[in-house]
Amino acid sequence: MTSKAYFDQVAAAWEQLQQSFFSEAVREKAFAAAGVQKGMTAADIGCGNGFMTEGLLACGLQVIAVDQSQAMLEQMRRKFAAAAGLDLRQGEAEHLPVDDGAVHYAFANMYLHHVADPPKAIAVMVRILKPGGKLVITDLDRHSYQFLKTEHHDRWLGFKR
Ligand SMILES: C[S@@+](CC[C@H](N)C(=O)[O-])C[C@H]1O[C@@H](n2cnc3c(N)ncnc32)[C@H](O)[C@@H]1O
Repeated sequence: MTSKAYFDQVAAAWEQLQQSFFSEAVREKAFAAAGVQKGMTAADIGCGNGFMTEGLLACGLQVIAVDQSQAMLEQMRRKFAAAAGLDLRQGEAEHLPVDDGAVHYAFANMYLHHVADPPKAIAVMVRILKPGGKLVITDLDRHSYQFLKTEHHDRWLGFKR
């Protein structure tokens, strides 16, 4: 099964699944690290069903949310139907459908360990930042839970900080 097929399959259940992997503290720390300010534009890369997007919209930012999975984006459409300032885009890590220098901040929560080529994915996220923009990656520390590869389609067992 491809990563895209896996996330299409779990999209409806992701809200519950994600709670066993991380808490809202992740979002708060990420926003503090970036120094997010109202009125700015952020990208939520590998947005899933919108954990980071939800917090960014609540802080008054414009959000471009990108994911490979149409099913995840459909969850986003339902969840944030009434939200102004949200732009949903389907795209892959290597070719994000976002212009160079388009955003003040890019966030990628629990995304990097799913991509085939993390250094390339990081370079692409840097490409979309305005000069002086901030990229904040929140992901798993290195671990040895091999079952995450088979059960959750992880490609990498976390990363060295
Ligand atoms: C573990 S989920 C995290 C979702 C969300 N960021 C959150 O905090 O709940 C990883 C997301 O990244 C997306 N993803 C994985 N690999 C991708 C790739 N190569 N290109 C684009 N999106 C990808 C998946 O479809 C999935 O929605």
